[in-house]
Amino acid sequence: MSRSPAQEPAIKPSPQNRGDRPVAGVAAVIMAAGLGKRMQSKHAKVLHPVAGRPMVLYSLELALRIAGHQVAVVVGHQADQVSQVVKEATGGSNGHVAVSIAEQRELLGTGHAVLQTRPVFMESGRSMPAQFIILNGDTPLLREATLRELLEVHRRQEAAVTILTTVLEDPSGYGRVVRSSSGDAVSRIVEDRDADAAVKAIREINVGTYVVEGDFLFSALEGLQPTNAQGEFYLTDIVQAAVEGGRRVAAVTLDDPNEGLGVNTRRQLAEAEVVVRGQIRDRWLDAGVRMIDPSSTWIDAGVTIGRDCVLYPNVMLEGSTVLGEDAIVRSGTRITDCIIGNRVEILDHCVCRDSQIEDDATLGPFAHLRPHVLVRKGAKIGNFVEAKKTELGEGSKANHLSYLGDAKIGKGVNIGAGTITCNYDGVRKAETVVEDGVFIGSDTQLVAPVTVGAGSVIAAGTTVTQNVPPDSLVISRVMQVTRPGWAAKRRVLLAEGAQAASNRTSSNAKTGKRASPRRKPKRSKRRPR
Ligand code: UD1
Ligand code: CA
Repeated sequence: MSRSPAQEPAIKPSPQNRGDRPVAGVAAVIMAAGLGKRMQSKHAKVLHPVAGRPMVLYSLELALRIAGHQVAVVVGHQADQVSQVVKEATGGSNGHVAVSIAEQRELLGTGHAVLQTRPVFMESGRSMPAQFIILNGDTPLLREATLRELLEVHRRQEAAVTILTTVLEDPSGYGRVVRSSSGDAVSRIVEDRDADAAVKAIREINVGTYVVEGDFLFSALEGLQPTNAQGEFYLTDIVQAAVEGGRRVAAVTLDDPNEGLGVNTRRQLAEAEVVVRGQIRDRWLDAGVRMIDPSSTWIDAGVTIGRDCVLYPNVMLEGSTVLGEDAIVRSGTRITDCIIGNRVEILDHCVCRDSQIEDDATLGPFAHLRPHVLVRKGAKIGNFVEAKKTELGEGSKANHLSYLGDAKIGKGVNIGAGTITCNYDGVRKAETVVEDGVFIGSDTQLVAPVTVGAGSVIAAGTTVTQNVPPDSLVISRVMQVTRPGWAAKRRVLLAEGAQAASNRTSSNAKTGKRASPRRKPKRSKRRPR
C-alpha cells in the first residue's frame, strides 16, 4: 500500500490488527440503497451473497470493527429486506455501538444517500462524530487494516476528506482520481459518464471508501449540485468542495487492486466470490483444519470448524454450520446450518440441513437429514436413510434404507433395514415414539401416532398400528405356508406345456395353417400341489 501526497512507511497488515478496538469518535455510514441495475436481478445488489453472506454485511462488519461512535446504513431499494438483513445480523446494535437505518426514499445519488443519515447523528443526543467512515455497500473484499490505515492517514494529515484509490488495467466504469498538475494532490473525482477522453485515460480510480471530517461532511453535502450526466448528487463531489474551501484532501492507494473491487455485475460478484472463498479456506487451514483439496472445498463465511477436522474434496459447508474437533466429512457432502460434534464421521454424499449431530456419531453414505434432526452421541445413520424432525437416541442405529419422520427414538434402539415411520395420513402429521432398547426388525411400518414401549421386539415385516407395552413381542404377518417339492413339480409342468405348444406350431407349419399371432399358447391350468 502506498500513500500520497506525503510518503510514509506502509503499515504491514498483520493478523494482530484484527483484534484492534473500535475507535472512539468515529462513526460509519454504509450506502446500501441502490438498485444495482447492472446485476440484471430482481434483488437489491447488496443482498446478493458472497460466500453465503449478503454483500452489505461485509461493509457492516468492517464498520463495526472500527466505528466506536455509531453506524448508519442507508437503505432504499427493497428497504425492508435490506433492513431485515442488517437487523438480524446486529440485533439493532453490536454491543458497543448502535446500528441505525436511514431510508433514502428517492435514489438521487451517493451524496444524497449519505445526507439521509444526518437525523440519525443529530438525534442521537450525542456530540457529532469527529470523523465519518463512508463505505459503499458493494466492496466485500476491503480489509480492516486498510480502513484503519485510511483513518490514520486522515488524522495524521489533518485532512477534511481522505479517499481510497487503486490503479486498474481497465478503469472503465469507475470514478477517476484527478490529481493537480503541480505535485500529486487530489483535486477531484470525475465519474466515468462525465469524463472526457483525457480523464478516461486516467487509470487511478476511486474505490468508494472515504474518511470525512465530522464538521465538514453535512455542510459539504448540502452544497452538492446534480449537474452531471446522471443528474445525481455525487458524494465524490465533496472532494472538489474541500479543495475549493482550502481544506486538505488525502489519499491512500491500494497496491492490490482486487481489494477495491466494487461489485456492479454478476461477473464481478463471481470474482469476489473466488477471492473471499480463498480467504476463508486459508483462515481455516491456518487454524488447523485439513483439506485434501482446498480448491474444491466450499466454506461459507458463517461456518466454524474445529481443529484436526478433515474435509475431503467437494465438500460444502454452508450457513452457520459448526463442526467440532476431529470431525471427518467425506466427498460430495453438503451441510447447511448444522451443529456437528467432535469425532463425527460423515461419509460420502450426505445432505444435512438445520440439524444436530452429537459427538462420535456417524452418518452416511447417502443419508439425508432434513430440518430438526437430532442424532445423539454415538448413534448411527447409515446408507439411504432419510430423517426429518426426529431424535435418534444415544448409541441407536438406523443403518439402512429407512424413513424416520416426526419420531422420538430412545437409547440403544436398533432400527432394522427398510423401517418406515408412516407419519402422514394425507392430512396430519403424527408422532412415533420408540422407547429405549427396542429392537425393530427389518421392513417394519410404524403407523403413527404410535408408541413402542421400552425393550420390546418388533418382528421383521410387522405393521405396528397399536401402542406396544414395554418388553413385548409384536408380530403381524400371514402365517407362513411351506410346500416341499412344489417348485420342482412346477418346473416339470412348465416344461411339458412348452413342449406341447411347440408341437402345435410345427404341425400348423406342415398343414400351411398360420398360428394366430395374437393368441398365446394355452397355459396349462394344472398347478403343482
Ligand atoms: C461509485 C462512485 C465511483 C466509484 C465507485 C466504486 C459515486 C458518485 N461514484 O460509483 O466514483 O469509482 O463507486 O465502486 O459515488 N447508493 C445509494 N443511493 C444512491 C446511489 C447509490 O445508497 O442513490 C449506494 C449503492 O447501493 C452502492 C453505493 O452507493 O452500495 C455505490 O453506488 P453505485 O451505483 O454502485 O456507484 P458506482 O456507479 O459504482
Ligand atoms: Ca459500485
